[in-house]
Amino acid sequence: MRSFVVSEEQGVLSCEVRASEATAQEPSDVLVAVEFSGVNYKDALVASAHSRVRRLPSLVGGVDASGTIATSDDPNFPVGTRVAVHGDDLGVARDGGFAEFVFAPTRFLSPLPETISNRDAMVIGTAGFTAMASVLALEHHGLDRTGEILVTGATGGVGSLALTFLSARGYLAVASTGSPEESRWLFERGAVRIIGREDIADRPDRVLAGERWAGAIDCVGGETLHHILRSLRYGAAVAASGLVASPDLHTNVYPFITRAVSLIGIDAVEAPETTRRRVWTALGGIAPKVDFTPLVDRTVRLEELVDALDSIRNGKTRGRILVTPTSS
Ligand SMILES: NC(=O)c1ccc[n+]([C@@H]2O[C@H](COP(=O)([O-])OP(=O)(O)OC[C@H]3O[C@@H](n4cnc5c(N)ncnc54)[C@H](OP(=O)(O)O)[C@@H]3O)[C@@H](O)[C@H]2O)c1
Repeated sequence: MRSFVVSEEQGVLSCEVRASEATAQEPSDVLVAVEFSGVNYKDALVASAHSRVRRLPSLVGGVDASGTIATSDDPNFPVGTRVAVHGDDLGVARDGGFAEFVFAPTRFLSPLPETISNRDAMVIGTAGFTAMASVLALEHHGLDRTGEILVTGATGGVGSLALTFLSARGYLAVASTGSPEESRWLFERGAVRIIGREDIADRPDRVLAGERWAGAIDCVGGETLHHILRSLRYGAAVAASGLVASPDLHTNVYPFITRAVSLIGIDAVEAPETTRRRVWTALGGIAPKVDFTPLVDRTVRLEELVDALDSIRNGKTRGRILVTPTSS
């Protein structure tokens, strides 16, 4: 089969399409014929020299994929089942979805609801799973429908899908972006208002900012997350999933002890089966209300992945990049 292999030998990185065999790690692994994969920020980290994310010197990249089960001994996952494959160490410490076939344990598999095609499953992908997990976490915490919900990194994968899902569920989503030229596209995704990245830092000279946000979904981290915490309304929460600006968080306890705000961590990688099921069920419910096509930045072949990874690394994508491993 054809696959996109990332390897590093003596500090020299190579990313290339090769002919390789799909190999199972455990006899119980299920083989999935991949129809689509998606490009995530994490894939760019895996395909970087001296990567601290990639845990093997050589592997097939791709932290997610969708397709159809080709071989399986598990009666709960019969041949022909349409699935999304993501999470755990896929594309990080074992071969991933940038290939015509991928072996995975069943705990990586989520059967797709009828309302979600294999293509739309990868428009959603790990980014959309994270976005919906963030929405559900905020709703569980208690989300005020009359207040504004901030979404950072709004043109990216997690951000644009969070915006789309919040809007489809009737919330007032405000997009924060460093790409003002994409304002029209962000309004079309459901933003009620757009602000610049720098506008998040309200009254930086004070310990606390004004109470602006009824909730927030943040995939940026660093200073951005600090300023969100200082400007959440009393009792509100931010769902934090990412680190595109920085993994560091320098903040203080005032928002927590004087405004009772909450910082909720979101993890798509180790999400237990109950969470996966809950999130994919919610995605299946919202899918008929969402037009996924405008969320696709472009669809690429394995041969075009190096360029696609560069654009996500440089923050130059809008929505999601899809990969079709079977087209040459
Ligand atoms: N916790 C989890 O399980 C989980 C799952 C999926 C993703 N993630 C994380 O979530 C983050 C986003 O992933 P993604 O796939 O959505 O990436 P992405 O498509 O590259 O989107 C990131 C967006 O952040 C904004 N951005 C880029 N550089 C920035 C900077 N230096 N400062 C502020 N904003 C910046 C850009 O949007 P604008 O131009 O619109 O500002 C960019 O489009 C990553 O850190 C990823 O590792 C975590």
